[in-house]
Amino acid sequence: MKTGLETLILPAGEAGAEAAARTLAAGGLVAFPTETVYGLGADAANATAVAHIYSAKGRPAFNPLIAHVPDLAAARRIGRFDARALRLAEAFWPGPLTLVVPKTDDCPVAELATAGLDTVAVRIPAHPVAEAILRAFGRAVVAPSANISGHVSPTLAAHVESDLAGRIDLIIDGGPVAVGVESTIVGCFEAPMLLRPGGLSRERIEAVLGAPLTRPPVETESDDSQPLAPGMLASHYAPRAKVRLHARDVAPDEALLAFGPARLPGQETAAAVMNLSPAADLDEAAANLFGYLRALDAKAPKTIAVMAIPEQDLGEAINDRLRRAAVAR
Ligand code: TXA
Ligand code: MG
Repeated sequence: MKTGLETLILPAGEAGAEAAARTLAAGGLVAFPTETVYGLGADAANATAVAHIYSAKGRPAFNPLIAHVPDLAAARRIGRFDARALRLAEAFWPGPLTLVVPKTDDCPVAELATAGLDTVAVRIPAHPVAEAILRAFGRAVVAPSANISGHVSPTLAAHVESDLAGRIDLIIDGGPVAVGVESTIVGCFEAPMLLRPGGLSRERIEAVLGAPLTRPPVETESDDSQPLAPGMLASHYAPRAKVRLHARDVAPDEALLAFGPARLPGQETAAAVMNLSPAADLDEAAANLFGYLRALDAKAPKTIAVMAIPEQDLGEAINDRLRRAAVAR
């Protein structure tokens, strides 16, 4: 592992984008904001740089990465897009959607980054800082979320710093992200498949497809076979505290992650309370989710009790991450 690195933190801007491009070209690791969460980028074609991503994060090496590109022409050099994949790309890119498509014959992404699969995950992020870095660098950048493997994803540069300072070369600080949960991943297979709910709602994708997304077969997360979306390991988004879902009351040694205007019995004496969205706005709740989980966890409660959140629109992604956080470890 590359530890003891001096991690430089630069503000977003022209100089920041140029420093990021130089660092990537030299095989370094650069954390940068996207609209979903902060990513930890490396040159997709440089297998050694990709290996450093895995070691910096402490990430299982079988877990493939998303290739980030600035435009559709660059995406099509990496993956083969059929008519349906193109329709999704045109409807939602740039944006919080990742498409898993077959690799091109001369796909430049390192085998290590695709974990030996014959498919590749691609997305065009909708963030001016990410776009400036991708254009300045001029080649694909693979980037998982910029956190220690198993922690919640970073929505601020400060989250990246607290997880990865000393392990990566550069952090570009572009302020808080807008979406707050990772991209939705769709597998462009015979029947398009929702591999991970995320920042683009299932409803909007199905409206463009004119058909429902299929679900992956039962997840193979407990055995060591290769899962379809291997990042979807059971306890992937985990604070240190236990997480208790569908809370209707809260104990004094618990912190409360609230949603909506209702107040719960015991709320006054809870160890801490944060409300994802007092107005019950699911987009606002997604944007606050990971930051609030980190903030409550920092108060070291025994448990984080979470109020019920509706399973619609971005609620599907929020509940997915919360269920993973609640898996006993
Ligand atoms: O919003 C996001 O998607 C963020 C930002 C930085 O772009 N990135 C992100 O990356 O969440 P990561 O590495 O945390 O999650 C990538 C997911 C994993 O679940 C991985 O298994 C899946 O993408 N994936 C990558 N390549 C795949 C492939 N060929 N087939 C199926 N799943 C794939
Ligand atoms: Mg992640």
